Amino acid sequence: MTTATTFDPQAFKQATRQQWDRCAAGWNGKSAQIHDWLASSTDAMLEMARIRPGGRVLDVAAGAGDQTLDIAARVGPQGSVLATDLSPAILAFAMENARRAGYRNVETLAADGEMATAGQAEFDAAICRLGLMFFPDPARGLEAMYRALKPGGMACTMVFSTPQTNPCIVISVSTALKHAGLPPRDPYQPGGLLSLGKPGLIDELFVAAGFSRVATTKVAAPFRLGAVSDYLDFIRESAGPILQILSRLDEAAQDAAWAEIEQRLSEFNTDNGWQGPNELLLTVGQR
Ligand SMILES: C[S@@+](CC[C@H](N)C(=O)[O-])C[C@H]1O[C@@H](n2cnc3c(N)ncnc32)[C@H](O)[C@@H]1O
Repeated sequence: MTTATTFDPQAFKQATRQQWDRCAAGWNGKSAQIHDWLASSTDAMLEMARIRPGGRVLDVAAGAGDQTLDIAARVGPQGSVLATDLSPAILAFAMENARRAGYRNVETLAADGEMATAGQAEFDAAICRLGLMFFPDPARGLEAMYRALKPGGMACTMVFSTPQTNPCIVISVSTALKHAGLPPRDPYQPGGLLSLGKPGLIDELFVAAGFSRVATTKVAAPFRLGAVSDYLDFIRESAGPILQILSRLDEAAQDAAWAEIEQRLSEFNTDNGWQGPNELLLTVGQR
């Protein structure tokens, strides 16, 4: 059974920002694992967005900038990337990572992706990797991306697909909720990890935002790690939504929750380490 609760988008956004400020260092610290996990789907996303040398690109909900650096490499010194994110703390890592890698074509701007804070009709391409599902109103986020694009410019987003194809997320969230004494959630509720995985929804939102030639591609992105404990370590350090659920518990109760999550995720042990299935949706549209 799931329960309906009153949803306050502003309070949700404030909590989202605090949550990502808190796990900014954790997400940044896992950059190498995240890079390997998402390497081929990120290449596909940047290809679908037609990111080319000399282009100006908007990277929404950029986080610690893993995909920002890939974009910076693709557009080259004649092009540029504007990386935006709700969390100033995580964005500071994006800038530091860009500087350290020697990219001078990256700028950052702390901004809510639902607001049209970036330039209007200024960008050749706009992307958002694993961010849009956290927006309370993703339609507004897509409208803002649409307005930021030059006519003919391409947008591409990456979000998680259905609960059935992302079982590790379902197991982690449902176990955390149970231990926190909270009722099960509708996986498609606004702002949730799987909120845009509902079949057909993301395409509808792209079309409603004004995009043409909208298409979604499903991509398998298994998370391959040495052992289930590595995945536990990843979510304990960087999975803001799960940490937020467990934050109301004392240390011993949190440990009990993590132990059950680990035990349930052990079903994905293989002879060659641990492999958690994930399915992503890459959606593209043109202004
Ligand atoms: C899972 S991380 C992804 C970061 C990065 N794109 C990546 O793939 O490594 C989600 C990011 O979405 C950002 N975010 C959530 N809600 C947002 C909003 N309304 N506007 C802008 N960014 C938002 C968070 O601050 C966080 O950095």
